[in-house]
Amino acid sequence: MYEPADVETVGVVGAGTMGHGIAQVAATAGYDVTMRDIESEYVDRGLEEIDSSLERLAAKGAIDEEPATIRGRIAGTTDLADLADADVTVEAAVEEMAVKRDVFADLDALADDDAVLATNTSTLSITEIAGATDRPDRVVGLHFMNPVPVMEGVEVVVGEHTDGAVVEFAHAFADALGKETWESDDKPGFVTNRVLMPWINEGIRAYDEGVATRDDIDRGMRLGTNVPMGPLELADHIGLDVVLDASETLHEELGDRYKPAYLLTRKVAAGDLGKKTGEGFYGYE
Ligand code: CAA
Repeated sequence: MYEPADVETVGVVGAGTMGHGIAQVAATAGYDVTMRDIESEYVDRGLEEIDSSLERLAAKGAIDEEPATIRGRIAGTTDLADLADADVTVEAAVEEMAVKRDVFADLDALADDDAVLATNTSTLSITEIAGATDRPDRVVGLHFMNPVPVMEGVEVVVGEHTDGAVVEFAHAFADALGKETWESDDKPGFVTNRVLMPWINEGIRAYDEGVATRDDIDRGMRLGTNVPMGPLELADHIGLDVVLDASETLHEELGDRYKPAYLLTRKVAAGDLGKKTGEGFYGYE
């Protein structure tokens, strides 16, 4: 099984921001999807987010089928064993190596021998995650961007032992989900976060050091470089805890040029994680 057309069922581990987005685009592409999280309330919340996203897309004619038809292809579960039949599983659990290695060891034990196991990790080593399995050749990075239903790109990350045919499959599978891809070696932060995190942290430092107001830093970067969001609003959008985790991994691996900004650390310590908690660099209703 190396062709996306041979895939019938897609497994997704995690129903959070990335997991439910990945489940949604896979179901929209016609696959049956099983989405698993550890608590049924997380699964339910993910399914609700999918419903509202599909409604938004349907309202502007961006999907060919009724939302209910697409939604009907997604089953929620709290039991990882329900992913046993998945031809490809995308893991989007928390960004903690120990958690991911546990999930991959469990998936390895229950999935078919030829199933592909992909991880949505944004900064952790694919090779280290794959090391928890007996099939490191069939483990690959599929790094989606947030919000998944809207963003057009997916980063394919190649681990030390990833088979060339699995890399090819990863590109083709992302293409079948309506995404465009680029490829990165398994090096800290891959392409996107290696370049994005210093940009965000420098925006936070500029704010903390009084270079300009919060709004003018974002406005300056939006108008000055034609990006949709400035660094502070993008940090809130991604989640400050996610930004801090990614920054700390890069700092650990690549040294002081990746040190997280002080104000980022303080806001995460205060529980102000951006949009998802209603407070970050901006306030949200
Ligand atoms: N589902 C469906 N539609 C959605 C949606 C969702 N979850 N989120 C936004 N949309 C749609 C809206 O309905 C809207 O559609 P129309 O233009 O047709 O009305 C469109 O997307 C734009 O949304 P909004 O009008 O609400 O707001 P916006 O114009 O500011 O766009 C945005 C929002 C798409 C998020 C845009 O600001 C953007 O592209 N920002 C940058 C996002 C980015 O850089 N993401 C990558 C982060 S890095 C990452 O994810 C990797 C990592 O490892 C950290």
